[in-house]
Amino acid sequence: MSRVFSGIQPSGELHIGNYLGAVRYWVELQDQFECIFGIVDLHAITQPYDPANLPERTLEMAVGLLAAGLDPAKCTLFVQSQVPQHVELMWIFNTVTPVGELERMTQYKEKSASLESIPAGLLNYPILQAADILLYQAGQVPVGEDQVQHLELAREIARRWNARFGDPFRFPEPMALLTGTQRILGLDARAKMSKSLGNTIGLLDTPEEIWDKLRPAITDPARKTRKDAGEPERCPVVYQLHRAFSPPEVVAEVERNCRSAGWGCLDCKRVLADHVIAELAPIRERALALKQRPDDVRDILAAGAERCRKLAEETLSLVYPQMGISRPDRRFL
Ligand code: TYM
Repeated sequence: MSRVFSGIQPSGELHIGNYLGAVRYWVELQDQFECIFGIVDLHAITQPYDPANLPERTLEMAVGLLAAGLDPAKCTLFVQSQVPQHVELMWIFNTVTPVGELERMTQYKEKSASLESIPAGLLNYPILQAADILLYQAGQVPVGEDQVQHLELAREIARRWNARFGDPFRFPEPMALLTGTQRILGLDARAKMSKSLGNTIGLLDTPEEIWDKLRPAITDPARKTRKDAGEPERCPVVYQLHRAFSPPEVVAEVERNCRSAGWGCLDCKRVLADHVIAELAPIRERALALKQRPDDVRDILAAGAERCRKLAEETLSLVYPQMGISRPDRRFL
């Protein structure tokens, strides 16, 4: 059975963008595959952050993921820094990754553009991501569209390591397994939904917060008044979210009513809000309950990390000897 790996940064809130782009799909995959999901705190520190809140944000992310439906009986959930082998494999991959490939990465270009001094960690970020995936020899990696370029680089890193050292052990070249909804736009329709842009609906928002955020969301610009007929395809946010949250018969009704000006945009948003709230309310409830039991959540993460350290050691025990490095007794890990 092919192993699935994916990760999420604890810096961003869990919002409907990363929920639809990745996490909702992870919940489905855990019934079909052996799944490992990492809260990637070592990635998060490549951006400005406050060390005082990082533990809390990491725990919050775990609460959100469990509330969204990840089940520790079906999948492994862990925090990246609790498995030091990620950093070891990253260093190894540093030695086979061309700097030119890293400089080509869109995310690197975007994030470094405004910086006077660029930390090497920002450039090397995708190497750590490749290590995350290949440490578990994962064949499938469910991510949103913005991460596809990093997966292609992970594949290239695997290919280069294999070509140089791989005989007979070989890394699988990770396969991008894309989610149904690949890129969720923010409520302002200007860019992808992302906490740093303030254009999100949080997974744990209250019904009132959801409605307050949805009400001003951008719709088809051709519909200036209620009587103007619209085109759902030109309504980048609300229609996309209807398709993600509303049942097919409601989506069909939305299309009809938009084209015939049967509803105003606000009516359409109200129907959407009802479906978003219906899906998110139980998640919010579970999160509130989990927040009362932080030690249980920490126990789940500790058990996940223990399992991951074992799997990671299996991979490193193949990697090091092939690179001519004999390892001391590592039972202390
Ligand atoms: P991160 O934390 O930015 O996002 C987590 C996942 O959510 C997806 N996503 C979205 N999908 C659609 N529309 C959006 N608006 C949206 N916003 C976020 C992302 O594509 C991602 O799948 N580098 C990764 C984390 C990572 C990782 C890994 C992923 C580290 N190691 C190994 C896979 C495998 C990141 O920053 O994701």
